[in-house]
Amino acid sequence: MSNPLRSVPVRSSEITPKQAYLSRRDFIKAAGVVAGSIALAGCAPKAAESTAAPALDTGPPKTDELGNPANSFEDITNYNNYYEFSTNKEAVAPLSKDFTTAPWTVEVGGLVNKPQTFGVEDLLSLFPQEERIYRLRCVEAWSMVIPWNGFPLASLLKMVEPTSAAKYVRFETIFRPEEMKGQGSPFYPWPYQEGLRIDEAMNDLATLATGMYGETMLPQNGAPIRLVVPWKYGFKSIKSIVKIELTDARPNTLWNTVATNEYGFYANVNPAVDHPRWSQASERRIGELSRRASLPFNGYGEQVASLYDGMDLSLNF
Ligand code: MTE
Repeated sequence: MSNPLRSVPVRSSEITPKQAYLSRRDFIKAAGVVAGSIALAGCAPKAAESTAAPALDTGPPKTDELGNPANSFEDITNYNNYYEFSTNKEAVAPLSKDFTTAPWTVEVGGLVNKPQTFGVEDLLSLFPQEERIYRLRCVEAWSMVIPWNGFPLASLLKMVEPTSAAKYVRFETIFRPEEMKGQGSPFYPWPYQEGLRIDEAMNDLATLATGMYGETMLPQNGAPIRLVVPWKYGFKSIKSIVKIELTDARPNTLWNTVATNEYGFYANVNPAVDHPRWSQASERRIGELSRRASLPFNGYGEQVASLYDGMDLSLNF
């Protein structure tokens, strides 16, 4: 079976010229301040409805393997779910802009032969960074196409040698309430946690992303390192990871703990199974006016459907 999502190394021609990037950053900075103040005034326009930002990236247009154009850098960095900073999508970018992302280490341990703590700079030099253009489908029924830079989660897991007892992988976001004001909220069991079955984690689509559009990851997108699991609802793609633990028991996850009947452990994108409060049959691609049909496994069924052979997918838990 051919894999249309094979890893593609980042070509230097695809990386935004520094000058364009710098002027774009100035633009984003200005836009962020404006969006932030509007958002805090409680009447933020949705990113999809905002007027288009000037196209400053002069590189070739990026598309996913289905031909869908990537969302703009501005959309991807200004419409975010990151509850540690805010529940308001437009407020995340301004509230996270000074978040400390260096130094940063990721502890990888649990049921492994070679537990190790890696600096993010070690991970960048150990594993070649690839560009992976994936769809992100939020459980809230909106979506984007995002050109991530990163490396397969499997490469890191193989390096620490999981033992035969390891059945699941647990991920944890940093707990730093002094910088992440949302972590002061008693309504959520911080730190954010997520989990995958080990065969899901070993699938080549599961990615540890360190950048986006050829640039270092910005805080609002989960700097300095976050998970990307494109066939699952976006809440599985945990941001700002400090700990990865191999376990024999299914880990608790933040959203499953908060609302067990609404957010499953598997959470595979499944247009046939509605969320208890809304339909999952279609989605709003940020930047588009009309809704589009959602795809089983977010369109990645060829690569992942066999992981669930024999499971009752109508339950999706
Ligand atoms: N990770 C943490 N630590 N905190 C969060 O609130 N939100 C999740 C996921 N990862 C979240 C998180 C949700 S609901 C989505 S849809 C994606 O991040 C959004 O990623 P993006 O903001 O880069 O588009």
